[in-house]
Amino acid sequence: EKAGFKHFMLKEIFEGPRVIGDTLSGFVSRDYSLPFSLKDFRRVIITACGTSYHAGLIAKYWIEKYAQIPVEVAYASEFRYSDTPVGPEDLVIAISQSGETADTRFSALSAKEKGATLVSVVNVVGSALSRESDYTLYTHAGPEIGVAATKTFLAQLTVLYSLAAIHSPDKDRLMQSLMRIPSLVEKVLAEANYVREIALKYAHVKSVLYLGRYLSYPVAMEGALKLKEISYIHAEGLPAGEMKHGPIALIDDSMPVVVVAPHDRVYEKVISNIEEVLARKGKVISVGFEGDKQLEKLSLHFIPVPAVEEDLTPFLTVVPLQLMAYYIADYLGLDVDQPRNLAKTVTVE
Ligand code: F6R
Repeated sequence: EKAGFKHFMLKEIFEGPRVIGDTLSGFVSRDYSLPFSLKDFRRVIITACGTSYHAGLIAKYWIEKYAQIPVEVAYASEFRYSDTPVGPEDLVIAISQSGETADTRFSALSAKEKGATLVSVVNVVGSALSRESDYTLYTHAGPEIGVAATKTFLAQLTVLYSLAAIHSPDKDRLMQSLMRIPSLVEKVLAEANYVREIALKYAHVKSVLYLGRYLSYPVAMEGALKLKEISYIHAEGLPAGEMKHGPIALIDDSMPVVVVAPHDRVYEKVISNIEEVLARKGKVISVGFEGDKQLEKLSLHFIPVPAVEEDLTPFLTVVPLQLMAYYIADYLGLDVDQPRNLAKTVTVE
């Protein structure tokens, strides 16, 4: 059932391209039509936990850009106990792979009770959240067995990008670009052994920082979450621009810093952040566009991904980070698919 892979997690990472294609087909077969329009709402509030929350952070940039609606993204466990005013002008998007996460469900339900419209992005058909929502957009990732969410994250990004892009006057071109992504993710996966070689050099470190800006900031957070949950190595994902406000004090010659640096609107800023890390002798492992000589030169290790429009970079840059976490945890002999203290579905608070 693992199709020749050592663990479900690795198999599921390799299913990424297919899952993006299948999820996209769901939208194409409906001719990109939706039973609701983001434009009917004053504001979008996204509620989610863990990896699904990171997908929500990325979606905020897409929805604000393409649909021109302000978006707030909240951890479900915080939103649930907040006094955020919510009403019929609001659309709440609850993102949950399982559709059973208690905090996500109950935070969304309380907003719905106050009059908001509830849309869920869910992988498990018939799950509680999908039944409780006004509308559900399914990710077509198939069952995910590994506790660490991998392929479902790519499927969530596919739904959320499509949802945003459909509201743009440029939707045909945007959707065409998305259709190229599965074959580009294949190219990233073809370099898995190269990522493994780099990853194994860091299997014994105590702590890793992950930095990114703009769309790569949530990708950095997701890379850090993958590492901590399956390898038990301390990791933090930070917006690179916040470094100088405190975290840079952590940097010394023993600190590996993973920088997600595709050639986008903040590229030059990220290069400056890398220089700040290097000045403190941090070890930079970067993920960037292939052929980026400048980035390669500044990095101890450079992981190239194919160049794409900036909005699509998370689909490609997150994959090497998933692989790095996997290879480190496997090398350490840990139970990759069933990490300690974690459950696939968190139905308690
Ligand atoms: C991370 C992970 C968790 C889940 C979180 C939300 O790899 O698996 O952080 O993302 O528990 O779960 P869902 O999406 O089922 O609501």
